[in-house]
Amino acid sequence: MNFWNKLSKKGPILVLAPMAGITDSANRLVCRKQGADVVYTEMTSIDALFYSSKKTFKMLEFQKKEKPVVLQLFGKRPEKVAKAVEIVEKAGFDGIDLNFGCPAKKVVNHGGGITLLRDLNLCHELVQAVCESTKLPVSVKTRVALDKGKITVLDFVDKIKDQPVSALMLHGRTYEQMFTGEINYNVMKEVKNTFNGVVIGNGGINTPEDAKKMIDETGVDGVGLARGIYGKPWLFQQIRDFIQNGTYDYPDIKVIKKIVQDHAKAVYMDKGQHGVIELRKHLCWYFKGFPGANEMRKKFVQVESVDDVKNVLKSM
Ligand SMILES: Cc1cc2nc3c(=O)[nH]c(=O)nc-3n(C[C@H](O)[C@H](O)[C@H](O)COP(=O)(O)O)c2cc1C
Repeated sequence: MNFWNKLSKKGPILVLAPMAGITDSANRLVCRKQGADVVYTEMTSIDALFYSSKKTFKMLEFQKKEKPVVLQLFGKRPEKVAKAVEIVEKAGFDGIDLNFGCPAKKVVNHGGGITLLRDLNLCHELVQAVCESTKLPVSVKTRVALDKGKITVLDFVDKIKDQPVSALMLHGRTYEQMFTGEINYNVMKEVKNTFNGVVIGNGGINTPEDAKKMIDETGVDGVGLARGIYGKPWLFQQIRDFIQNGTYDYPDIKVIKKIVQDHAKAVYMDKGQHGVIELRKHLCWYFKGFPGANEMRKKFVQVESVDDVKNVLKSM
């Protein structure tokens, strides 16, 4: 049984959705510790793997404690998929995801991401190329629709129904909505009733109440958290507590400081000083809304080492 099916038997699956520039190894580690069942990498280029880009190979590194970890691929050339998949398998990932949802200009300008749905035959070829190249569970991630509803996720699901796809993460917004606006629960529910695999709902989940509402209204097997975890990776545990007991707690400042220190150590181990500089945005998110947050922000945007982070935390 693959890990998706195992997890779906235990109750709602809590997933860290892929986020470029955010879901690096350290962030994934923190989220797993805070209750995520599955974590996704940042999107990784099929072409870059095919051409053995050093920078992209670095993105294949992860810690055992992150498992199960899914690597997300993006691209539009089926003929390059087999080699990319071989590299991903060797790196030890637990699953492979294909991106059919990214609206970023640098991706869609090359015909990738969400605009792939304009050519459903190509979508099918890509999914088939991945499924035929691997024994790992394959998943896909997409949005509810594009081109003012002319093409929908239901067309996509129908097109790939002959492929052994284990899971589908659905961002409940259209291409046109980009990253704001209402989540379409109706289409999400239809996908749950149509797709023959695990369905993970995604979009706009910032509180345990948001997660419960999505699950109750659509019947999805789990939820994918993205921006909702900015500075609050404990949202995973809060969601689990809320679903199981109807209540949840907030971590106190001591606990938060420990999580932040662990995050800083993990990112330093993985990327060195460059990682600490990338961490600055997370540090600001962790303490957003705290008394004195503006003063702290001024300090956080200057940290260059784990000791710098510790010193700012001590001064609080
Ligand atoms: C900074 C950022 C980077 C993202 N990168 C990816 C990505 O690499 N692959 C992907 O499929 N989606 C990506 N997404 C989309 C998220 O996974 C998610 O679908 C979207 O943010 C909606 O969820 P939210 O409203 O909870 O943030 C990204 C989103 C953000 C904000």
